[in-house]
Amino acid sequence: MPPVSVPATGSVPDRNLALELARVTEAAALGAAQWIGRGDKNAADQAAVDGMRAILDTVTMAGVVVIGEGEKDEAPMLYNGEEVGNGQSPEVDVAVDPLEGTRLTATGQPNAIAVIAVAERGTMFFPGAAVYMDKIAGGAEVAEAIDIEASPEENVERAAEAKGVKPSEISVVVLDRERNGELISSLRECGAKVMLITDGDVAPAIAAANPSRPVDLMMGIGGTPEGVIAAAAVKCLGGAVQGRLWPRNDEERQALVGAGLDAERVLTTDDLVRGEDIFVAATGVTDGALLEGVRYTREGAVTDSIVMRSRSGTVRRVQAWHAFEKLSKLSGREYR
Ligand code: FBP
Repeated sequence: MPPVSVPATGSVPDRNLALELARVTEAAALGAAQWIGRGDKNAADQAAVDGMRAILDTVTMAGVVVIGEGEKDEAPMLYNGEEVGNGQSPEVDVAVDPLEGTRLTATGQPNAIAVIAVAERGTMFFPGAAVYMDKIAGGAEVAEAIDIEASPEENVERAAEAKGVKPSEISVVVLDRERNGELISSLRECGAKVMLITDGDVAPAIAAANPSRPVDLMMGIGGTPEGVIAAAAVKCLGGAVQGRLWPRNDEERQALVGAGLDAERVLTTDDLVRGEDIFVAATGVTDGALLEGVRYTREGAVTDSIVMRSRSGTVRRVQAWHAFEKLSKLSGREYR
């Protein structure tokens, strides 16, 4: 972790929004956690949205949702374009994934998180019709070495060289999907360790940028919105995300062209999030490579969050004890 510098005399650090945002992702995680292992991903997602929305307007910001639950017609809350926060400065773009890993939660699998990213207004890539993106993500050590246009073998070799290890020691997390089949075979052929995940590629991308976590790279085709959120976090931690939009068919390719997007272009971390003052908070729902999941206690629950800010480079782990009876009394909402 980079050292925290002491401000020069006369200058004081300004407000760190990420600390306020931790309450937002904690609320989403507490909502979703009630549905862990209950086989109902929609209910889990809805509970996360409700939890997040209830706290979001207490955050001091004039936010507009750039990445949310979809278009207003389908999503009554946290839709793209919705204004969030208490309306006071700063003016920001907001990317939310109240429950990243709905199926993981419903089936009690690891790596489900609640996550939010905030950056200066107009600086986040708007994915629009771009559902999928080919992605590669890694930490500061490999940031200059990785290249989405190079072969998987080359990326593993470059990452190994940058880290001073053998290619066989490089761990790559990949979403287990047919569309990633060739990638998985190539990675195995060159000796890398391939960690297949059934869902949820944001947490491993953040973990790859975190030197204390056992992941070196996240590669493969996954969601575009998730790529933007991962880029925001990676920009705080140091590291890189590269992406290239992956239209599934000609119709989707045409829709991208119509929206002014170029499916051939390599999108760098800065293309995905141009801002320089980025705040990210994430809370574990189920245990995973990045965070511990929600744990229940006699009084309520314990949550584990990571909060970060790009400008200061400070990354915090926040463990919070929630007392459900008091919270219910205080908020008028039911906590369980
Ligand atoms: P949920 O929206 O159900 O939480 O799924 C998230 C996710 O697994 C992402 O992490 C990933 O980028 C994307 O879905 C993959 O999409 P698909 O399941 O369509 O392959």
